[in-house]
Amino acid sequence: MDEDSWRRDFVGDLPPPRLRGVKKDDLPRIAELEKTAFGPKGLSRNGLDVMFDPSGELWILAEDDEGIWGYSVNLRTADSTVGWIAGMAIHPARQRHGWGQLLLRATIDRLHDYDMKVIRLLVKPTNKLARRLYENSGFIDTGERVDHFGPGQSRMVMSLLLPTRGDWHQEHLPEVPVDPDAFTVTDGTTSE
Ligand SMILES: CC(C)(COP(=O)(O)OP(=O)(O)OC[C@H]1O[C@@H](n2cnc3c(N)ncnc32)[C@H](O)[C@@H]1OP(=O)(O)O)[C@@H](O)C(=O)NCCC(=O)NCCS
Repeated sequence: MDEDSWRRDFVGDLPPPRLRGVKKDDLPRIAELEKTAFGPKGLSRNGLDVMFDPSGELWILAEDDEGIWGYSVNLRTADSTVGWIAGMAIHPARQRHGWGQLLLRATIDRLHDYDMKVIRLLVKPTNKLARRLYENSGFIDTGERVDHFGPGQSRMVMSLLLPTRGDWHQEHLPEVPVDPDAFTVTDGTTSE
């Protein structure tokens, strides 16, 4: 792969990626992609190695004939219904061709398959592109980790709720209830 051949303003279209699970052999490439996306704050090869054993079956890679260009690193927690997207990126050479959206959809489906009810992630508040990608899939702002990476380096917590059962897919995200009666109790008073 030629690292100098990044094409942010790609003219024309790219075929969609092939998505697959992760093997230990893939960890060095994921660490490389983390470094490209997040610099020194990226997950290291060692950090990935520690997370791989308990959670590696939840991770997804995006690749084409030229190599691996994207990944999502996803974690279980002590509460088996709560999952975290700990890292996700598409290499600049493959950005803005829908790969990120496909990878995110596959990641949500994967975690749903593992009976997760909530998916959380951290995002830099100024990372508008990533925030929009997550919002488009139903994630909402659910708080802030103040100074998460040191003073002035806070991160927004975004969360997605998933239905307990049923044939769920991204296109069928539940509507947010807007019926005011849903908040009215039977004796005629309104709940707080
Ligand atoms: C965030 C990130 C994963 C998005 O990946 P991506 O593959 O570029 O995402 P997509 O192509 O699916 O969508 C991104 C935008 O490109 C647009 N796009 C998709 N295909 C396109 C095409 N052929 N031509 C032009 N634009 C296109 C999408 O509409 C979307 O724009 P919108 O948000 O205005 O709707 C990627 O930018 C990245 O890795 N960033 C660095 C790491 C990072 O921030 N990770 C998330 C941190 S939590």
